[in-house]
Amino acid sequence: MYFNGRFTTTDERILGVEDRGFQFGDAVYEVFKFLDRRPVFLLEHFRRMCRGLAEIEIACPWDEKSFAAMTRDLLERTSFDEGIVYVQVSRGEAPRAHFYPDKINPTAVAYSRKFKFPDETKKERGIRIVSTKDQRWLRCDVKSVNLLANAMAKKKAQRASAEEALLLADGFVREGASSNFFAVRGGRLITHPLDEHILPGVVRDKVLSFAPAANIPVDQRALREAELFELDEAFISSTTQGVMPVTDIDGRAIGNSRRGEVTTSLQRLLDAAERSDSS
Ligand code: PDD
Repeated sequence: MYFNGRFTTTDERILGVEDRGFQFGDAVYEVFKFLDRRPVFLLEHFRRMCRGLAEIEIACPWDEKSFAAMTRDLLERTSFDEGIVYVQVSRGEAPRAHFYPDKINPTAVAYSRKFKFPDETKKERGIRIVSTKDQRWLRCDVKSVNLLANAMAKKKAQRASAEEALLLADGFVREGASSNFFAVRGGRLITHPLDEHILPGVVRDKVLSFAPAANIPVDQRALREAELFELDEAFISSTTQGVMPVTDIDGRAIGNSRRGEVTTSLQRLLDAAERSDSS
């Protein structure tokens, strides 16, 4: 595990109880995957993290080069070839007070974890999801560690034997509790535009970049809740799930409950891009 410029083991107790990440959720995180010990879309994840940190006035402890070097060192120390890296930068440790100090050293942590990415069977079968109210704050574009509302939504999904919660607000579909949401209707790909209601997903961005070459017209607009059951296809996108078909929402079938054509082609394009990425 990387901790503030050195490598240690996950057994060592390193975080102070007055770290602002712990007490205030005053921190930003990233999750990226690695395959054959090679980070996937590293630069994209790093840039999103820097943007998030800048939005909440925390200085990023790395530049592109030192972040890539830290990642390389971490993966060299990792005993498995495939998994995820979790990175978190908090504002740092200071006597508890809402006013954050101007001069404070951020706490930076990164570690790898084994992760079993969906296999071909799972990617074809897809997942069931349930809808629930979006109870998050209004800066969902910042990947902050304030994940209580996401965790509650996810638990609700699990209790309903579903794998993801679809977050709804003001009659609109926002995103998943830990993924972005895409719909296909009449051959058009629909996903929420980038704003404070959703996370600018790295995979979302990749999927959108494949659409022109695959001849898929895109509408970046908020889908109305009422449209949910008029869809031909739906899928979620995320670092850990890739492009994952959604077969039903709240027990109601999407399309014919099978992975659709548009989903399949975008899934293949993403898999290829992941394998050939060299960032
Ligand atoms: N979650 N929206 C939310 C709320 C997320 O938490 C995530 C990712 C995404 C997809 O982003 P990306 O394509 O960059 O992974 C969208 C990560 C994987 C997590 O919290 O574990």
